[in-house]
Amino acid sequence: MKKVLRLHTSLFQDNSVSSQLVQELTQSLAEHGEALDIVDRDFRESPVPHLDAERLQALSTAKEERSAKQAALVAYSDSLIEEVQKADVLLIALPMYNFSVPSMFKAWFDHVARAGVTFAYTDQGPKGLLTGKKAYLVSAMGGNHEPGQTDFMRPYVKLLMNFIGIEDLEFVTARGLNMGDDAREHGIAEARADIERLAIEFSGNHQPTEEVAA
Ligand SMILES: Cc1cc2nc3c(=O)[nH]c(=O)nc-3n(C[C@H](O)[C@H](O)[C@H](O)COP(=O)(O)O)c2cc1C
Repeated sequence: MKKVLRLHTSLFQDNSVSSQLVQELTQSLAEHGEALDIVDRDFRESPVPHLDAERLQALSTAKEERSAKQAALVAYSDSLIEEVQKADVLLIALPMYNFSVPSMFKAWFDHVARAGVTFAYTDQGPKGLLTGKKAYLVSAMGGNHEPGQTDFMRPYVKLLMNFIGIEDLEFVTARGLNMGDDAREHGIAEARADIERLAIEFSGNHQPTEEVAA
């Protein structure tokens, strides 16, 4: 059974396209592959706090010297890291906000990127420690953006994932969602076609996948 961590980062309650597509991807993967053991982290229900000065101080304090409050702050960050450590597969629902990721996703990553735990500094540069995982980045955007031009989200998330050692990445993107009914329908249909293709690949029938330019 594959362990799956799903991150829902949209602020929309019931009509998030990225969350809906992650749900559809989950179903397709389950239909085409083995059983999935799913953990959901939904930023709408549990907003991720910024890694502020108090939290950073708690992390920098030796374990045996932490106050009860500091221990609780560190335990929260630890729980986010453990969810990723335990997962074989990450399904990340990502709306584009202001040409990049939702700020809570950045906050989540600030908790998860921890030297010595999820990455290490070596004499060859940083090395990701969360290897052997696969991530699906399911994004939704109102407009039509190309990676590296007006889309700073996909290249950035690719960099973040690679930084902690997750190099096996797949992208599903619904574009043009706020550009009228036809464009929205087309954007969702393209994303659904990618989901179908990726689910077939997941079951072992391998075909080449889209690469996003960094
Ligand atoms: C705060 C905010 C900022 C947004 N910024 C952008 C943007 O920069 N570019 C874009 O194409 N769409 C932008 N949108 C539109 C969303 O990307 C679009 O509504 C998408 O469907 C959101 O994903 P979701 O449906 O999963 O929540 C923005 C929406 C919000 C709420």
